[in-house]
Parts: sequence; C-alpha cells; structure tokens
Amino acid sequence: MSKRTIVAMPGDGIGKAVLEETIRVLDAAGFDAEYVEGDIGWEFWKSEGNPLPQRTVDLLAKHKVALFGAITSKPKDEAFEELSDELKEKGLVYSSPIVGLRQHFGLDICVRPTKSYLGNPLNFIRRGADGGVEEPPVDAVIFRQNTEGLYGGVEWSNPDDKVYEAFLTHPKFKKNFGSTPKEEVSISTRIFTKNATERILRAAFNHAKEYGYNSVTLCEKPNVIRETSGMMYKMALKMQAADYPNIELWNTNIDAQMMWLTKNPENYGVIVAGNMFGDIISDGFAGLIGGLGFACSAQMSAEGIAVFEPTHGSAPKYADYDTSIVNPIAMIESACMMLDYIDEKAISTKIRKAVADVIEEGTVRTYDMMKMSGRPDVIEKGAASTTQMADAIIAKL
Ligand code: IPM
Ligand code: MN
Repeated sequence: MSKRTIVAMPGDGIGKAVLEETIRVLDAAGFDAEYVEGDIGWEFWKSEGNPLPQRTVDLLAKHKVALFGAITSKPKDEAFEELSDELKEKGLVYSSPIVGLRQHFGLDICVRPTKSYLGNPLNFIRRGADGGVEEPPVDAVIFRQNTEGLYGGVEWSNPDDKVYEAFLTHPKFKKNFGSTPKEEVSISTRIFTKNATERILRAAFNHAKEYGYNSVTLCEKPNVIRETSGMMYKMALKMQAADYPNIELWNTNIDAQMMWLTKNPENYGVIVAGNMFGDIISDGFAGLIGGLGFACSAQMSAEGIAVFEPTHGSAPKYADYDTSIVNPIAMIESACMMLDYIDEKAISTKIRKAVADVIEEGTVRTYDMMKMSGRPDVIEKGAASTTQMADAIIAKL
C-alpha cells in the first residue's frame, strides 16, 4: 500500500477541531497518508479578498482528494464589511468558497447518507398505532446535484437593459412582472442541463442497484417547476424503464417529502434531487439521525476529484472554546466515505464499526447527544469533548 497524499482543508470555525480529530482517528486506524493543508475560508477572504486562493485550487488539482472541515458563508454585504480596509476599494464580492470549489472542479455528484445508529439518543421517534413509542430505522442516501440550479450563480438585481428586455420576451414575465420597475426586480435562475441531470440520476440508480435499495425517489416539484424539475422527472422515467427495471421510481414533491420524512422515514432509500432541494432534504433527513453532528457527505467530479465534508456549518461561536465540545462524528464519517472512494474499505469498515460501538455503548457522548445546549460548561456536566469522543472511537478500533 503506497502512502496517499490528502489535501486537508480545515476552513472556518469548528472545521479545524473536527478535522484534527478525524486525522487522529485515520492514523490510529492504520491509514497511511500525508496531509497537506489547503487554505480556504473566512480568514483568507478578510486578508486576501479571496476565500478560495489559487494555491488551494492548485493543491487539489494536484492531489485530487480532500477532506474539508466547515465554512462560514455570509451574505455579500456583511462579508464586504469584514474585508480588510485596503481591499475594500477593489470591488470584491464574496461568494461561498465551497460552492466555488464545487463549480471549479465540477464536483457535481453529492452523496449524503443518513443512517441511524443503534442506541443514538437523538434518533427520531414517533407514536405507534398502539400508543407506544416507535423508533423507525432510517437509512436514506440523498444524491444532490451539486453544481447547477439555484446555485449556478446566474442572478441579477436591477438587471441591465439587455437582460431585462430578454426577460420581457417571456409572456409570463411580461404578465406577472412587466409592470414592476426594473430597479425593483431581483432574479435568480434555476438552470438544469441534461448532462448533469443524467449524471446525478445515474449515480442514484447505480447506488440503489449496488446496495440493494428497491426504490429511487426523485424529489423535485415538476407540477409547478415544469421545465427543470419536469425535465429531470422525464429523464428519470426513461432511465428507470431502460436500465433499472427492478428498482421502482417514486416521484415526490419537495414540500410533501418534508412532511413524509417525519411520518414514515423508513420508506425511503435512495433519494435524488436538484441542488437546492437536495440541500433541504439532506438537512431534513439529518435531523432524523441526530442532526448535523452525524451528517456526512462526498462530492465528486467526473474527472476523479473528490472532496469529503460534514454537512454541518462552521458554528463559529464554538470555535474558540478552550476545549472543543463539538461532535466529530460527521467529519469522521465523511473521512470513511473518502476511504471507500479510494478503495480503503477495510479501514473504513473498521472505523465505522468503532463509531457504532461507541454510540451503542453510550458512555461517551458529546453535548448534542446529551441534549444539552452548547456551552463551555457541558464538559463539567459530563459531556465528552471533541477529543474525548475521538479517543473513545480510537479505543474501539
Ligand atoms: C451544505 C451547505 C452549503 C450549501 C452552504 C454552506 C453554502 O448548506 O453543504 O449543505 O448550501 O450547499
Ligand atoms: Mn446545507
């Protein structure tokens, strides 16, 4: 086994703490790798006016596989305020570096598994028909298109004349918005391409086939968003009929899906959606398995570049505690997805089992698992720190 080089991008806030602990777990599990640090995030926006420096892009182009901690994304006006004074005149506009990374490298396939752990006190429960409490097992994998749709970045406020006139040629625009002054119009587009839509659908069906799921649920809104969601639905129907006769295709609308996921989450296996709806639904399912402390993700391009990151944010308010209290499991699980991707399945299996053992045993729990609100004193009250959770996992390896 040759030594791998992994780009480690801690990012902002708690990203650093969870990534450090994850690398400790990887080392202890026998993963032989060298980590090179990639600069990304808020710090570099403030000091360089670029949260995704070119040197980081080059690093990822060279080494191909990265672990990513977390990122702070703020609206553009707030971001401008935090820019260092000498950069303020340069006309820089903040945009999320993780979205930039996805687009730059075409990391169009995003996979977000949400599987409940036995013994996790945060597992979703509901009232059964006999009045007793039921804990349905959740095992849904969300395939989120990761580069297009509402995240495509094609948007305007007070669009220039040419753009505005082009919109006016659309009868619905003319009818519904034509009497509003141009200065009062903001437009964000939702663009889907056949190629990217085909790829995310294919990835979802292949996953279902490989791992024995009997259905793929397309979660969009084709009854209203006729062109983009409509195209995706038509393509899914065709793909299922042609290539996956043993897998059922279910079609749900995002709004109804958000309701059903708390009524009967056990019914869902593989779910596929466009970018924004995939974002929403993956948080929805994450809530059923313990929240973002447990939600991991993989983002992959057609060219073999891949970034693995927990679905949680950077939680800046926890970042400067003397002892980090956040749950590292989402990051550790993301690293397991990386190990699967580079064919180190023996190591990922070992780590996943250790994580499952710690959760089931229940003696070491981070504050979220003890239903405490996050404050520095949770450690005194018996919650495990980020490091103690990693230690407990290492001890089980
Ligand atoms: C996610 C996050 C990102 C997204 C943010 C941080 C830009 O919510 O990865 O789900 O919206 O995609
Ligand atoms: Mn999200």
